[in-house]
This record gives sequence, structure tokens and C-alpha cells, in this order.
Amino acid sequence: MYKSAEGYKKTTRIIHGAAKTPRWDYAHHVVPPLTASTTFRLESVKRAARGFNEFGRYREELDGAPVYIYDRLEEPTRGLLESQLAAMEGCDACLTFASGMAAVAAALGCLLQSGDEVLAHTLLYGCTHSLFTNWYPKLGVRVRRVDFTDAKAVAKAVNSRTRALYFESPVNPTLDLVDLRSIAEIASKANKGRKRRVYSVIDNTFATPFSQRPIEHGIDLVLHSLTKNIGGFGTEVGGAVCCSKEIFPSLASYRKDFGGILSPKAAWNILVYGVPTIPLRIKRQQYSALQVAQYLEKHPLVAMVRYPGLDSFPQRALALKQMRDFDGGFAPGNMIYFRLDARKASGMKFVDHVAQNAYCVTLAVSLGHTKTLIEMPSAMTHSAYAGEGPMRERGGIRLSIGLESPVDIIKDLETGLKAASRRRR
Ligand SMILES: Cc1ncc(COP(=O)(O)O)c(C=O)c1O
Repeated sequence: MYKSAEGYKKTTRIIHGAAKTPRWDYAHHVVPPLTASTTFRLESVKRAARGFNEFGRYREELDGAPVYIYDRLEEPTRGLLESQLAAMEGCDACLTFASGMAAVAAALGCLLQSGDEVLAHTLLYGCTHSLFTNWYPKLGVRVRRVDFTDAKAVAKAVNSRTRALYFESPVNPTLDLVDLRSIAEIASKANKGRKRRVYSVIDNTFATPFSQRPIEHGIDLVLHSLTKNIGGFGTEVGGAVCCSKEIFPSLASYRKDFGGILSPKAAWNILVYGVPTIPLRIKRQQYSALQVAQYLEKHPLVAMVRYPGLDSFPQRALALKQMRDFDGGFAPGNMIYFRLDARKASGMKFVDHVAQNAYCVTLAVSLGHTKTLIEMPSAMTHSAYAGEGPMRERGGIRLSIGLESPVDIIKDLETGLKAASRRRR
């Protein structure tokens, strides 16, 4: 009765996925029902005790269905989503969390203890930067910043206290890429003869597992803000950490005790709507992103455009190597970063004009939405940098391309650019 997905393509498996598993009897449901029970009938103390005893053990080591006890420990809809995400990333296990930030905190929280050190890329999502600068020092964890686009500098910076190598690729918002294989090799070299391992940890939110599967390149932990491309419709907040079966027990125990679980209602929406439509959405958004990036590149008021799909992208060869979709096609994603020529146009005036006049480009944070979103990271998502360090150069503009016609996205951008021009008309 539990049919095998073996031999089927990932695009098919993310639609049918684990909806037929011993996790839960969905025999009469084509779409899994939305579960909503905080607690579960246990039938006997013996069975309850078995459930507590088995909690946090890697599922495949156990026979049959899990003993569900209480939502915060394990929950069927969330479990189905987790199997789907693990299958997409090509790893042993996945655990979901209440938000992307809860996933960042848990991925590192289960590895670190006071006295440890994290090596992190110089530029990260603003709240991750804030976590590292405002909170980790209070916990006795030192975070040292290194340019992860320079693998030699990372290798040199590793010391006996280093416990995690943390980065995003593409980096939010500049879209710089980090060579996944080089970072994985640095961690594996550092681990020779070492008691407490160094783990490589990537925030894969921008790429999604559709466009990049870091575990295939040797990265240890992969995390996502599900709020973005994977949720895809802008209706749910969530996060996920994908990992090996060795890390799973400690991550499961961390989530149980810190409590940042994803609600089954959010999990259901992501499972039923977000995950199965990822290839369709991203392929369409990539198609439009290339048109928009090419339009911006030719525009006289634009000084710089970054999009991994452009021939001019500085790390084009690396993009071609590691950003690959389920079928091996080039998958440069749906994010664009650009800057206007300050002598010719005001970036702020442009974004404000778009915010107040455009029909299909919306000034809002977040990304990977059906709607095209625009924002100015130095003043918004990355304001935690306070215009310092990698956010010194203000005025960059981030675009998350939605599902609209690229012709219309360009129309709205063109109107904004005309209004922002310093040239008298
Ligand atoms: C790259 C990246 N990681 C993590 C997060 C945090 O995700 P959430 O808002 O779901 O907590 C964000 C949010 O914008 C992000 O862009």
C-alpha cells in the first residue's frame, strides 16, 4: 500500500512525496488532512513510555509509525513536510521551525557551547548579523568575520575553537557566491584528528533546494527561511534545518526544549501549496529575472546589476557549477541586486516612486513571493549593519521577481527610473 517513489523524478516526488508513509494513515486522502491536535491518545503507559524513549531517534532506525505524543515533540503534517524537504535537499533528515531565524538559532544552538567560535561571512541577512553581534557574545560565543568568497582566508582563519563555518550563497543581498565545495573541504580537513568537529552551515534561502543542494557538495547543515521561496505565496512564516542522522537527535532535542516549532497549519500550506509548485514558480521567475536584469544592465541610469544568470556576473563560472536545478539545468534564481548611478539618479527617489505609483512592484521586505518585491537593504533588511562594513556603500536595491509578466515589471521600473532621473526633462 505504501508505494515507492524510487525511480521517479524529484519534480514528481515533491508532489506525491511522502504522503504515503507509515507516519500517518492517509489512505483515503489525496491531499493530507490538516491536522490540529496538540496532544495524542496514547492507549497505554507502556506505549507512551516507548514514545518518550524513541523521541529524537532518527526515524529510519525505528520500525513502523512514530508514537505521536505532543505537538511540540513531533506532529504528522510537520513530519510530512520535513520528509519532503529532506528528500529535496538529498539529506537524511529535516526539522522545521517557527521562522527562518528560529532555524538559524537552532542549527547553531545545537552545535555551540560557551567558548566556541563561529567563522561567518562578512555579509549576512541583517537579523543573523544582529544575532551574532548582539546575542552570541553574551553566550560566550565569539563570531569572527571572514570573506568566504576567499577560501584561502577561511582556511587560514580556522583555529582549535572553531566549531562552525557559517554563510549564505547567494549572499543576501549582494548575490555574491561562496564556493560550496571549497568550504566543505576546509571543514573536512580541519576535522582530521579533532574531537569536536567543525561544521559547515549554509543558509540556502535564496537558492532553495530546487536551485542548489549544498549537501551534494559536502556541506553539513542547510537551513532555510520557509517564509520565502519554499512557502512561495507569502502567507506563512517558517524555517527548516536539513542535516545528517548524526546531528538529528541533538537538533530534535534542542527544538523540543527551546520550543520554536512550526505550527501544523503553516506546515500544511507549505506542504500542499509551496513545495509542489517550486519548480514551476522558480522557473518562471528565473525567466523573468533574466529579462529584468538584462533591461537594467542596458539602462543608462543603472551603474551596476548583479544577477547570476547574466553573462556579466563576476562569478558566472561558479554559478554555472553549483546552481543547478533538479534536472541539471542552470538555476540562477529570482533575486536581482542593482545600484543606480548616483550622479544621474537617486536610488531612494526611484524606490519611493515605485512604492507609490507602480502597480505590480511592491516596496516590501521578504522575497520569493508571487508578487515582485523591491527594497533598499541598507535602510531596511540590513539596517543592523548601520551602514558599516559590507553595507558601507548605501543605495543598493534588491528585487525579488514574482510571477507577473516581465513586460509589466519592466514597465513599472521604467516609470520609476524616469521619475528618479536628475536630468531635467
Ligand atoms: C537569507 C535569509 N535567512 C533568514 C531569514 C529569516 O527568515 P524569517 O523571516 O523566516 O525568520 C531571512 C529573512 O529575510 C533571509 O533573507
